[in-house]
Amino acid sequence: MRLCPILTVDIDWDNLGFGFLPTDYMYVMKCSQGGNFSKGELQRFGNIELNPSAGVLNYGQGLFEGLKAYRKEDGNILLFRPEENAMRMRLGAERMCMPSPTVEQFVDAVQATVLANKRWIPPVGKGSLYIRPLLMGSGAVLGLAPAPEYTFLIYVSPVGNYFKEGVAPINLIVEHELHRATPGGTGGVKTIGNYAAVLKAQSAARAKGYSDVLYLDCVHKRYLEEVSSCNIFVVKGNVISTPAIKGTILPGITRKSIIDVARSQGLQKNFLSKLPVWQSFLEATFDFSDPKAASGSVWMICQKSFQSQEVEERLVAVDELLDADEVFCTGTAVVISPVGSITYLGKRVSYSNGGVGAVSQQLYSVLTRLQMGLIEDEMGWTVE
Ligand code: COI
Repeated sequence: MRLCPILTVDIDWDNLGFGFLPTDYMYVMKCSQGGNFSKGELQRFGNIELNPSAGVLNYGQGLFEGLKAYRKEDGNILLFRPEENAMRMRLGAERMCMPSPTVEQFVDAVQATVLANKRWIPPVGKGSLYIRPLLMGSGAVLGLAPAPEYTFLIYVSPVGNYFKEGVAPINLIVEHELHRATPGGTGGVKTIGNYAAVLKAQSAARAKGYSDVLYLDCVHKRYLEEVSSCNIFVVKGNVISTPAIKGTILPGITRKSIIDVARSQGLQKNFLSKLPVWQSFLEATFDFSDPKAASGSVWMICQKSFQSQEVEERLVAVDELLDADEVFCTGTAVVISPVGSITYLGKRVSYSNGGVGAVSQQLYSVLTRLQMGLIEDEMGWTVE
C-alpha cells in the first residue's frame, strides 16, 4: 500500500497523557487454526469487523502486548527490546491455545507499523509512541473451543505519563478481598481477561482517591503480587526485592530490565562516567571522604550510585511495606513510578521524601536514557 507523505500532526505534545489517539496505519495478519501467520499488511487505521461469534468476544481468547518507540535527538527511532515482547506473546499464545507470529514476524511488523506512523512519535523528551500488538481468536465459535481463525493486529498511539500524577509518586491501596490471579490460572500471561478482572477494585480505589491497587496472593493473602498495570519493587537498605515470577505475576520486560540494571554495577559506573559535568560538580561540591560534610539526600544519591544493589526475587510479605525505605512500580506504560504511600487495612504508610527515593530515581534515569539513546546501550537492548 502507498503510504501518505510525512506531515506534521496537530498535537499539544506538552500535554500528552496515556489516552488513545488514532494514528494513520495499523498492521493486520491472519492465520487459521493449525496454520502459520503470513501475508501481513499495513492498512489505514480504522474499525475492524468481527463475527459476533468470534472466540475473543465470546470466550476471551486474546492476548496483548505493549512496547514503546522513542524519537532520538538525531531523528532516528529506537525500540526497546521488541523481541522480548514477541517471545512473551508466543508463551502466552501457547497458554491460550492460539498460534502466534514468529519473533521475526512480530519485530518486522512492529517496525513497519512504527515507520508508517512516524509522524506520531513525540519529539524528544515529550513522550513516546505506545505500540499495542493484539492477538485474538477472530474466527467464529459457539461451543467452547479454540477459534478457527486468528488475527494479529498492531496499532499505535502517542503517549505521555501513565498516571495522572505524572512522574510524581503514586498512592496505592492493598486489596484484600479481590484477587488478580490464581495459581494455575493465566496471571502470568498477558491475556485480556486479566485486565478486565482488576477493573472493579481499580475503580473503587480511584473513587477513593488512590492511584491504583496492589494485589496480594489469593492463597495466603499475605504476599505481594503486582499492581493492576505494573510490577512492584520494595527497597530496604541495599536490597531491592520483588515478587518472584511463579505463574500469577506478569513477567514484565521493564521489571526484567530493571533487575539487570540494578545488578549491573558496571552499568551504574558507566552511567555516571557518561555524565562528567554532574560528576565533577558533585566532586567539587562535596568532600566524599567525609559523609557528614555532604548534606543528606545528595550524599545518599551519590552513595547509591556507586553501590551495586542486590536484587531478590522472592516471596515479599505485605508487612515488609511497613518498614521499607522506598517502593516503586515498573511497567512499559508506567516506566518507573515511585510510590508515595500504601494503605493496607486502613493503615497508611508514607515513604520518606514523599516517596521520591534515590534508588528509583537512579534506575529511572538509567532506563530512560537507555531507551532514548542518550547513553551507550551496552546491553544491546535497543533496536534502531
Ligand atoms: C503496559 O505497561 O504496556 C501494559 O500493558 C499495561 C496496560 C494496562 C497499560
